[in-house]
Amino acid sequence: MGVIMLAIKASNVSKVFKVSKLIPSSSTFGQVHWLISLRYILGFREKRKIIALNNINLEIDEEIFGIVGPNASGKTTLLKIFSGLLLPDSGKVEVYGHDIVEEEKIVKRLVNFVGSARWITFDYHLTVRENLEFFSLIYGLEKSYVKSRINEVLGMLGLLDRQDDYVWRLSAGMRQKMSIARGLILETPILLLDEPTTGLDPLSARDLRDYIRIAVKEKKLYRTVVISSHNMRDIEDLCDKVAIIHKGRIIKCGTLDEIIRSVRGLSVIEVEGYNIPYNVCELIGRIYDVVSVNVEFKDESIGRGNIRVLTDSPERIVYKVVKALIDINCRILSLKMDKPTLNDAYMKIIGVNLYGGKTRS
Ligand SMILES: Nc1ncnc2c1ncn2[C@@H]1O[C@H](COP(=O)(O)OP(=O)(O)OP(=O)(O)O)[C@@H](O)[C@H]1O
Ligand SMILES: [Mg+2]
Repeated sequence: MGVIMLAIKASNVSKVFKVSKLIPSSSTFGQVHWLISLRYILGFREKRKIIALNNINLEIDEEIFGIVGPNASGKTTLLKIFSGLLLPDSGKVEVYGHDIVEEEKIVKRLVNFVGSARWITFDYHLTVRENLEFFSLIYGLEKSYVKSRINEVLGMLGLLDRQDDYVWRLSAGMRQKMSIARGLILETPILLLDEPTTGLDPLSARDLRDYIRIAVKEKKLYRTVVISSHNMRDIEDLCDKVAIIHKGRIIKCGTLDEIIRSVRGLSVIEVEGYNIPYNVCELIGRIYDVVSVNVEFKDESIGRGNIRVLTDSPERIVYKVVKALIDINCRILSLKMDKPTLNDAYMKIIGVNLYGGKTRS
């Protein structure tokens, strides 16, 4: 019987960045400047360690796999390590059984990393199509293939009618699309997408998700896609499995069902309103039986947004929640009971609320 090989296997992967300590803010720049410069030149600068990844163990099959986590939790660092762009300080990563350090060349042919906001690497004096053709040349792709592939990718991203524009004429979202287009020209078995929908409008984000789903599940263009995102829609719509990463550690990994199971039996009180203060989660989180609170602002200038309160006793606390909001002068527009979503489960697991996502006892 043949052995089923994992697409990506990470064992005990850690990564620490060493960064120079900043100039103390209390010092008068003029007086100490030459001293600092001297120390810098002589190499005596103090170093600070940032633990980006802390003992990561992960097994990714041929599937669409999501990585979610707050800012600076280590998502990009992990994806870069999977692609061989960064090396881990310790631990081992295998791509289809090939070690990313010892078999770097093989791994680079298997994996393609598509980073976000990398549009600065484009040539601003070339058009959209010329830029993509240039990168295709670097990738060593055949001309006949390149033409149709660029058409397909630009068409999917809604950029065909702007293909002859210079890059500097594009909006920020269009440049993000260009960055994705460049990534998608290559067809490697494994595609790593780092926050691909950031900066895209909702319809473009949906089109991209549709494209990825069809490319993997129907056309079999890619065997494995690993996608990091802050947008739970990406994860819900696309992923078979998801890992939640926090402060460089995987704190939960499983199918979407398994993640949502962690909030099974709980309900959500959703309040829409305005004049919502920034510390609303802290205030509502103090109410007994509140498991976690999350607020999503839609218009920060008037504090308008939706507050979602996760609880096991909605009937008992709904009055307290409403009273607490009225007491802080919040204007309530609507109130409803809802079932917990993947995002509620994520918030509970990450524990953004004051009490670390746990019911008070
Ligand atoms: N080249 C670098 N030099 C120093 N520190 C770095 C470097 N790259 C990343 N880090 C640090 O490593 C940590 C993880 O960063 P990373 O970019 O992987 O986070 P992330 O989860 O992708 O965040 P975001 O959601 O903001 O994109 C952060 O604290 C970051 O400051
Ligand atoms: Mg990142």
